[in-house]
Amino acid sequence: MKIAILGTGNMGAGLARRLAGKRGLILASRNDDAAKSIASELGAKSASISAAIAEAEIVVLALPYASALELAGSAALDGKIVIDITNPLKPDFSGLLFANDTSAAEEIQHRAKGAKVVKAFNTIFASLFAAPVEQTMGIPVFLAGDDDAVEVSAALVQDAGFAIEKTGSLDAARLLEPLGMLNIRLGFALGRGTGIAPQWASIAG
Ligand SMILES: NC(=O)c1ccc[n+]([C@@H]2O[C@H](COP(=O)([O-])OP(=O)(O)OC[C@H]3O[C@@H](n4cnc5c(N)ncnc54)[C@H](OP(=O)(O)O)[C@@H]3O)[C@@H](O)[C@H]2O)c1
Repeated sequence: MKIAILGTGNMGAGLARRLAGKRGLILASRNDDAAKSIASELGAKSASISAAIAEAEIVVLALPYASALELAGSAALDGKIVIDITNPLKPDFSGLLFANDTSAAEEIQHRAKGAKVVKAFNTIFASLFAAPVEQTMGIPVFLAGDDDAVEVSAALVQDAGFAIEKTGSLDAARLLEPLGMLNIRLGFALGRGTGIAPQWASIAG
């Protein structure tokens, strides 16, 4: 399955580096030169946003939430698995745009009705993509969405060098986005840095 990564900033480029050579990647950005340059470095393809979407079965929205939402309402995403990695922050970064009655992932799904939206990677700081895979393979990427789309996304997570933590249907994004916000708070406001990630523990038995 081909993967279109839309957005070549910290997250898009980082994920592309982890998947390069393992998956058929098509990189796209509003800045064609940025996509071309990263694609040629990685031996991947680049294309316009619409051409990348048309060619791929999986579309990763590595964009700010507002841009991802806008694109979800206008792009031809029917039948695609759409991976939403966004943390829908308020403009002043003081918190999330939503209370607990919806989520970025559900809003994107609402706009892109024919797509299968999966929430993933929102608790993974971009700097983790640059770490050796041995350091991240035990770190979970939390996934929410319908079962089939989550299975496909879980394989991508594994290829990207992370562990899989399924959280159920897409409404679990209402819980994952605050978890992303907590990670940001710990990382930035409380000084833990961007090498951290949440992980569930359990005692034996
Ligand atoms: N950074 C993290 O550690 C982290 C962790 C978890 C989740 N996230 C989420 O991941 C998403 C991307 O974050 P990031 O750190 O990669 O951001 P970033 O470095 O600012 O990159 C954003 C990318 O989106 C592109 N873009 C912005 N508006 C666009 C539009 N209207 N149409 C097309 N492309 C557009 C930018 O293009 P230009 O280069 O032309 O501006 C850039 O390629 C965000 O939603 C963020 O909340 C980030």
